[in-house]
Amino acid sequence: MKDAKKAQVDDAHIAVHWKEEGYYQPPARFIGQANAADPDILERFSEEHFPDCFKEYADLLTWDTYWQTTLDTSNPPFWKWFVGGRLNVSYNCVDRHLATSRNKAAIIWVPEPEEERTEAVTYQDLYGRVNEFAALLRDFCGVKVGDRVTFHLPMVPELPVSMLACARLGVIHSEVFGGFSGMACGGRIADSQSRILVTMDGYYRNGELVDHKAKADEALAVAREQGIEVDKVLVWRRHAGQYASESPMVDGRDFFVDELLNDYRGTLVEPVSMPAEAPLFLMYTSGTTALPKGCQHSTGGYLAYVAGTSKYYQDIHPEDTYWCLADIGWITGHSYIVYGPLALGTTSVIYEGVPTYPDPGRPWRIAERLGVNIFHTAPTTIRMLRKLGPDEPAKYNYRFKHMTTVGEPIEPEVWRWYYDSVGKGEAAIVDTWWQTENGGFLGSTLPALQAMKPGSCGPGVLGIYPAIYDEDGNVLEPGSGRAGNVCIRNPWPGSFQTIWGSPERFIQTYYEKYCANKESKDWRDWPYMAGDGAMQAADGYLRILGRIDDVINVAGHRLGTKELESASITVEEIAEAAAVPVIDDIRGRAVEMYVSLKPGFSASSEIEKKVSKAIESHIGKIARPKNVWIVPDMPKTRSGKIMRRVIASISNFADIGDTTTLANPEIVEDIRQHVQGEKVDRGETPRELTAEELKEMAAFGAE
Ligand code: WT7
Repeated sequence: MKDAKKAQVDDAHIAVHWKEEGYYQPPARFIGQANAADPDILERFSEEHFPDCFKEYADLLTWDTYWQTTLDTSNPPFWKWFVGGRLNVSYNCVDRHLATSRNKAAIIWVPEPEEERTEAVTYQDLYGRVNEFAALLRDFCGVKVGDRVTFHLPMVPELPVSMLACARLGVIHSEVFGGFSGMACGGRIADSQSRILVTMDGYYRNGELVDHKAKADEALAVAREQGIEVDKVLVWRRHAGQYASESPMVDGRDFFVDELLNDYRGTLVEPVSMPAEAPLFLMYTSGTTALPKGCQHSTGGYLAYVAGTSKYYQDIHPEDTYWCLADIGWITGHSYIVYGPLALGTTSVIYEGVPTYPDPGRPWRIAERLGVNIFHTAPTTIRMLRKLGPDEPAKYNYRFKHMTTVGEPIEPEVWRWYYDSVGKGEAAIVDTWWQTENGGFLGSTLPALQAMKPGSCGPGVLGIYPAIYDEDGNVLEPGSGRAGNVCIRNPWPGSFQTIWGSPERFIQTYYEKYCANKESKDWRDWPYMAGDGAMQAADGYLRILGRIDDVINVAGHRLGTKELESASITVEEIAEAAAVPVIDDIRGRAVEMYVSLKPGFSASSEIEKKVSKAIESHIGKIARPKNVWIVPDMPKTRSGKIMRRVIASISNFADIGDTTTLANPEIVEDIRQHVQGEKVDRGETPRELTAEELKEMAAFGAE
């Protein structure tokens, strides 16, 4: 890392702009009923009790064979948790609740069209559906323990049913976010070598029945190019018996699940007793290079961790009605819609569609109607609801005891609207910082025991000991006022085990930089580097400043610059492409693309549209750039490297900084005038940026 990036993470001066917010105390009504109300729990999870403290989480589960070793560190950093133990995740999330809660709703599914009926799936019902689908996977598809099955499913109950059916068989699932393109899905099928794809014909989004099955055909073609042939495509139907897609069913390859299930009615499948260390699922996430990383999550450690954090941080009791408005296609949904809440035997609400459809009162109508008392969402959604319907929450009669925010830093002002208007001043809020890699929360507050502080996520959660390191590996003490690289000093049970197929990349990306001694088998020598810049206040609370690599966080989700750029250069006319973030008040960051053309082509709005389309089809709508700028050339260093920080500064009307190292400094002013002139015409001039935002742009992509 060279100077500019170093400046971002290592610059003591960020502290000058750090405005400490005051504390908010948890409401008394909340404390009275909280799962973690006795401060003794902090002592039980203190560092001197590590790793045995996690027995408390493991004991929330039902084990077929109890484990012998809490933490095995013999092969760093491939830590093993609860070694010797065996269990089944589907048994833990479904079967074991039947005795007490057979006819209680496990899932309440809310379709997007308001006239369609809400569907309650009881634990008994879920048990039947999981067993039948597991039987189909086993007997019709022939999948076995350890095989991978890819899902490309929207927010329907069939998604958790499919996940739990795989878990029942010891089969590894890999859900690709439904909004991702067929191509993105195909790449993930190939990387995981899945022979089975589970998809759906269509689903509702923003009032439209989206044709989803079409993406499966594209996915299979892409997987084939990469050497993987999918044998069977299982198609759930949004309305059983009615096909909602234009895409033809391929004979002998594509099957309607509702038809196949007729052969498995009432079939029971014995849950396979899996070693704690067996992989449960893969979840792909973006890194700095083109290939997304398949984060491999474990069975026992993962389930224990999400159950424990759901209990103490989400404060889930079996009798709560819990609603996480994330998508199950992201890790948040896996951990905190499906596995954590169901392991605890609560009722988890799943909403199919867009939060603001048909109007921004929708979430509050759902909350009122279903009696939701725990609500979980992301800053991007909060900002959207606040913008479109600031007065809507007051119109509905619901009461939240607890609310969560996740995915990106939340502005204190937005936090206060969440607290006052959505929570009506009665709910405890937890701001939960973590990543796809981590399985569950890393930084947050214990809602009854630790005060809230808007804009800070809180200290390390139970059993997580964070530290902030400077570039040279020195620890920055809490309260030092300096920002650095946030790391977790210890292993924890929820962590991913490796990057699927790339153990070297796993070590290199997360452990290499701060490993004290590669020969050491002591976990203390192997801090986990999260890749976020952060500051820690004197009270231990972390304030996350954002990614230190070239990843753009759009609406709480990571998009790799390389992925965006390689999608753009698939357009015939494009010679070079560079992706930069632009501050967006709703989505946090949006993507802007700069492209230059091959000789012989001239700029046109068609080419801009082609670039947008290419990104949409390679990655998905979420990645669609706000603008595509066709430029005569990119600002480059003498060694030919595109200086992304220069164009990022232009896009954000920030100070362009030093351009003396450029081979072609004269181009910068041309680009600036063109881009900023257009932006002014389009009314896209940003608000005044904060010092941190300016720093981010000045360091973006710099080496
Ligand atoms: C990145 C992880 C966590 C599941 C959803 C996103 C940012 C996440 C917070 C928060 C500030 C946050 C970080 C992190 N982030 N939560 N509460 N406050 N920043 O998972 O796609 O793997 O993204 O999101 O930069 O590294 P992900």
